[in-house]
Amino acid sequence: MAPRVFVARRLPVDAAAFLEGDAEVDVFEAPRPPTPDELRARAAPCRAIVSLLSDRIDDALLAACPELELIANYAVGVDNVDLAAAKARGVRVTNTPDVLTDATADLTWALLLAVARRLREGERVARSGDIGAWQPTGLLGLELAGATLGVFGFGRIGRAVARRAQGFGMRVLYTTRSPVPEAEREGAAPVSKAELLARADVLCLCAPLTPETRHAVGAPELAAMKPGAILVNTARGALVDEAALVQALDAGPLRGAGLDVFEEEPKVHPGLLERDDVVLSPHIGSATEHTRRRMAEIALGNVRAHLRGEPLLTPV
Ligand code: NAP
Ligand code: GLV
Ligand code: GLV
Repeated sequence: MAPRVFVARRLPVDAAAFLEGDAEVDVFEAPRPPTPDELRARAAPCRAIVSLLSDRIDDALLAACPELELIANYAVGVDNVDLAAAKARGVRVTNTPDVLTDATADLTWALLLAVARRLREGERVARSGDIGAWQPTGLLGLELAGATLGVFGFGRIGRAVARRAQGFGMRVLYTTRSPVPEAEREGAAPVSKAELLARADVLCLCAPLTPETRHAVGAPELAAMKPGAILVNTARGALVDEAALVQALDAGPLRGAGLDVFEEEPKVHPGLLERDDVVLSPHIGSATEHTRRRMAEIALGNVRAHLRGEPLLTPV
């Protein structure tokens, strides 16, 4: 009997056609995530699953899936997977690195520019059908040339964000866990987290969500940020204490925030919804046609490699 594979949402690549001859594929076709019960029931008979970042893969799920050998996560971030539990049960995990780096760095810059130049307010004015009198003092924002970008988490996406900053004439500082070789620094300088907070006019979060990075930006860090600074988060929502961010925006010294990810996805903190100094997007960092197709090819390619006994393309 052909091995069974569960794909937790319809992908931009036809999973059944991709794995034809290698597996019998069950795709969850609804435009919503499977419930935990649905996920458990559909994954139970499978040797591999393609999971999404909204699917929680914990030990209870693994225990219910005795045939499971591979979790191919359709994301680079794997915080939705209990990696220790998977390892303990001998289940391998793959992700989709690299192919989404440029798309996510672009979206980071879209939010950065939108907050810096107050596009949300400007859009609303223009859509009123009358932009009013041209004002020397209207909608003034932050000039990026000569300003300082701080990148927290200097990996693939953090470096791609830094690379783009050179075109804007920004100085770039970063804080990261392991030392980065000079040749891979993209002209950016390593600093302590305290210095990053104190000096960045724009702080971009590009680290994975781990126990160490949860609430990396909370009330004390927000208070330590440079007055007038912008916070951009395209990593994972829980890197930021959202309630503390709302309070910090209310209290003043921050200029604004650009957020693609949220602490309690799919919910957005109500305190963020009406603010003009906040630009929001619905977790679309990797959402280009090209990137989402490549992510599917990599996730399904990992499944195929595993089933054929070949090396995985992108093991975690
Ligand atoms: P990556 O290449 O692994 O880069 C992550 C960087 O963060 C690494 O340099 C890592 O350093 C550093 N880091 C880890 N823990 C840290 C800590 N405690 N303090 C400071 N730095 C730390 O990953 P990536 O491909 O750039 O992706 C980064 C994250 O972006 C993903 O994990 C995902 O959550 C998020 N993401 C979001 C979207 C979106 O749609 N918004 C799209 C893609 C990715 P070490 O090398 O020392 O571990
Ligand atoms: C998206 O958020 C990813 O981690 O790929
Ligand atoms: C503005 O539109 C200018 O011409 O300076």
